[in-house]
Amino acid sequence: MLKEQRKAESKIGLSDSGTVRTKQSIYDRRKYRVKDVGGAKQISTSYLKALDLENAIEFGLPEVDDRYHIWRVPLKGKDGHKVGEVVIDAYTSLIKQKKTTKKKVLEARLLGRIAKKKKKEVPAPKISNLRNTIGWGDSEELLSQTPAESIDLVFTSPPYYNARPEYSDYIQYDEYLLKMRKIIHQCNRVLNEGRFFVINISPVLIRRASRNESSKRIAVPFDFHRIFIEEGFEFIDDIIWVKPEGAGWATGRGRRFAADRNPLQYKAVPVTEYVLVYRKKTDKLIDWHIRKHPEQGLVAASRIEDGYEVTNLWNIHPAHSKKHPAIFPVELAAKVIQYYSFKNDVVLDPFAGIGTVGQAAIQLDRRFVLFEINEIYIKEIKKNIESWLHQKIEDVNWINCEPVIPVKQYIKF
Ligand SMILES: C[S@@+](CC[C@H](N)C(=O)[O-])C[C@H]1O[C@@H](n2cnc3c(N)ncnc32)[C@H](O)[C@@H]1O
Repeated sequence: MLKEQRKAESKIGLSDSGTVRTKQSIYDRRKYRVKDVGGAKQISTSYLKALDLENAIEFGLPEVDDRYHIWRVPLKGKDGHKVGEVVIDAYTSLIKQKKTTKKKVLEARLLGRIAKKKKKEVPAPKISNLRNTIGWGDSEELLSQTPAESIDLVFTSPPYYNARPEYSDYIQYDEYLLKMRKIIHQCNRVLNEGRFFVINISPVLIRRASRNESSKRIAVPFDFHRIFIEEGFEFIDDIIWVKPEGAGWATGRGRRFAADRNPLQYKAVPVTEYVLVYRKKTDKLIDWHIRKHPEQGLVAASRIEDGYEVTNLWNIHPAHSKKHPAIFPVELAAKVIQYYSFKNDVVLDPFAGIGTVGQAAIQLDRRFVLFEINEIYIKEIKKNIESWLHQKIEDVNWINCEPVIPVKQYIKF
């Protein structure tokens, strides 16, 4: 019953005569100032007069919208095409300027033109002007001096927390995580919009101190995951780097079980590491980076050939160095760089070690930024850099360290 009454009421005003069909109309009950079609047309005529358009425009059938308490008066050109509307506040009889079609738009439509909306300019991705850079020092500090949005990809593996007593810069786990958070925060700032942060990381084994204690495994990747999300990254992928069988036996895990075979003693020998992929938060689609790249030739030249890794299981032999206890293989860095950057992009490793990321970046025609805190590893980079950077060595930006002077060979005649 109520529904029907409402239906009938909402039809009120559809008559062009301006008469009200029911005895006590909705207008009376709601105390509208504009009570009928005639009143709405009258207000609209005054409005059009003020715009100097009263002779060019005719009215369609005004309607009341009793949800919002407004009258809508359709405006038509002489040929009968709708060109806009006047919206009137039914209570006050004032024109609702924001909702009423603007003079400029009406004129354009009357002349058969489409009033152009100002198109919002979609910016193109930025091209960084950073040179190949090697910096000796704490990454947190060096990153704070790096320009915002000047890096196109971060690939790194963080320092181990207490992995080996001789290789432990961080004693308290919370302190370690806080330091990593600060560096991840800075990386987010220097990363270009929507670009990737790829991290090679794995749980850490804390060996038991005595026979009465058990060893512990700390799930470092999961703590890092939380930090990435809190610092403005979106999770993209979990790639598993699989090392050939035998690679994890050095940890001693599973040896006891192998001998005794008691349930509960089972421990899997770790032969994998994570390669976790995050993206700096953005509303831009990946497609935007490709379509709007200012140098389309570089996009074409960066296309990946057949034989790429199709699944998230990557079988790669680990690398070893007498100079550094925890390097990753150039092959791993090369895959990540190929899949997550274009040629000429700038790839950052904030924990550079002996510079594996720089080496892979140069092989693939990318630029690099390497920061490393340990002087021994900086020296190691300097010792080998000429062999992988060749003549480009003269253009390197050295921070806190003396540049490497290229050895030039002079042939005497
Ligand atoms: C896992 S290693 C990286 C090795 C590297 N991926 C390679 O292949 O040579 C981590 C490195 O981070 C460095 N490091 C630790 N804390 C640092 C900091 N605050 N700033 C810069 N480097 C740091 C360590 O000295 C170590 O060389």
